[in-house]
Amino acid sequence: MQISGSILTFSLFLAFILISRASSAHNKNDFLECLNLQFQKFNSESDSIYTPQNASYSSVLQSTIRNLRPASNSGQRPFVIITPEHESQIQAAIYCSKKYGIQLKVRSGGHDYEGLSYISQTPFFIVDMRNLRSISIDTEKNTAWVQTGATLGELYYTIAEKSKTLAFTAGVCPTVGVGGHFSGGGYGMMSRKHGIAADHIIDAKLIDANGQIHDRESMGEDLFWAIRGGGGTSFGIVVSFKVKLIVIPETVTVFNVTRTLDQNATQIVHRWQYVAHKIDENLLLRLFLRSISSSNGKRTIGAFFTSLYLGPVDDLLPIMQEKFPELGLVKEDCTEMPWIESTVFFAGFRGQSLDVLLNRTQVSVYFKGKSDYVKQPIPEYGLKSIWKFLNEEDVYRAELQFSPYGGIIDDISESEIPFPHRSGNIFMIHYIVGWSEEENAYSQRHINWIRRLYSFMARYVSKSPREAYFNYRDLDIGMNKIKGNTSYKQASVWGFKYFNNNFRRLVHIKNKVDPTNFFRNEQSIPPVSLW
Ligand code: FDA
Repeated sequence: MQISGSILTFSLFLAFILISRASSAHNKNDFLECLNLQFQKFNSESDSIYTPQNASYSSVLQSTIRNLRPASNSGQRPFVIITPEHESQIQAAIYCSKKYGIQLKVRSGGHDYEGLSYISQTPFFIVDMRNLRSISIDTEKNTAWVQTGATLGELYYTIAEKSKTLAFTAGVCPTVGVGGHFSGGGYGMMSRKHGIAADHIIDAKLIDANGQIHDRESMGEDLFWAIRGGGGTSFGIVVSFKVKLIVIPETVTVFNVTRTLDQNATQIVHRWQYVAHKIDENLLLRLFLRSISSSNGKRTIGAFFTSLYLGPVDDLLPIMQEKFPELGLVKEDCTEMPWIESTVFFAGFRGQSLDVLLNRTQVSVYFKGKSDYVKQPIPEYGLKSIWKFLNEEDVYRAELQFSPYGGIIDDISESEIPFPHRSGNIFMIHYIVGWSEEENAYSQRHINWIRRLYSFMARYVSKSPREAYFNYRDLDIGMNKIKGNTSYKQASVWGFKYFNNNFRRLVHIKNKVDPTNFFRNEQSIPPVSLW
């Protein structure tokens, strides 16, 4: 009796699997048919629809994937990618997605550290914003409308075409997409003087879970607050942002100075922690730390000071001599240039033409990243322990980036927008370790390394919560349940780290605008009704 009972249970289980597979294939076909029909209805081209049978499917999928790790480990490929050219196609995609219960993922620049814009554990399709990337600049009002499929490089280039004294404050890598970057914050080389990208958003065009298009007025101030740093995905598809541009001098100064351990790197880095967040806010002194080979072939630590000063070198030097003489900066280390050339310099393309900012193709690598916020300087012995960690990995494989806060970031209240990392932070640490395709079989070794370092660093960084930067997405700090509903308590684990007390307000807004949790991923804001 017992045996036949288990056979019956097993048969029922098999039947269930077969039925759900058949119905899922059925759903996918119906979904595709729905998309085609809707696209025709709106007079749109169905060649914006790519299925795996399409010759361009793989290249469209791969082209903006920056981190190869997430897709190599797990997750399904999308069974459709659409590349809308107008909003009606996004509305159609939302309609069909709801009708057939197929998950929608939106991708702008594809730089999500955990690949959440292009992989999933359940059947899904991608709305890829690459064709929605127009940028219009108003030099009278110092504003710009930028569609979310544009890259930062395209935005910077277009602003510079129109004006020598207008700019925008956002990240360093030109291929990062506006959609994800602005939605999660957007820190860059002018952030101490001008704040982050999300601080400058003054209007937006968003498509909600009902397919309705809103601007700031019709979405209301709560939702408009949420999309300025509350993270991509959770609240709708942002089609474009209107931003306030910033005014900059015609000449800025850049420098890259390296100090190794036998040039007192430990003491200089230690001192940097007392200086970089307090110094003149026109100056952003960023610091990259790596294990390198010294001239005698031995391992050492390279402290790379990479900096932008919004003004001429003759104004910069007295500031450095007074506040940070330990670095020993001299005029010959510095180069004056227009701001737009500095974006090429910091992206690592020094000397190349500005057109490099328009290049959307990129080098893809395998990496894992994490982040922390530091409120008290790390003592010298703490820095020496970090050097030991860096020396465990091969030269140039791992890096710590110290990005100074202070300046205007301190003056903006924690609740002004959802991005909460304001007064009291000296700097943010970005930990990163990368490896090649051949080494991917041993990826766990590198991932374990970064996790051990992160665990060691707990004593030196922010606590209760241990804060993290949303745009350096890290699923290690917690995630929603892949299937079923995530409770507020479960989501709080990672939610308070990214958003502090703003997390509560984000959850309430989510409940108002998307109570059925249509827009979701492993770290999207869950609605209150799921508590
Ligand atoms: P992607 O398209 O992968 O989207 C990221 C998230 O936002 C996903 O969840 C996605 O679904 C969602 N999303 C995308 N478009 C959306 C839209 N239109 N509407 C709603 N949701 C949307 N950060 C920083 O602050 N300063 C820096 O200098 C850098 N530099 C940098 C360099 C490199 C090489 C990488 C890989 C990353 C950075 N970043 C960074 C981090 C970057 O800001 C972060 O990864 C952004 O989320 C990337 O935005 P994308 O649109 O490119 O990603």
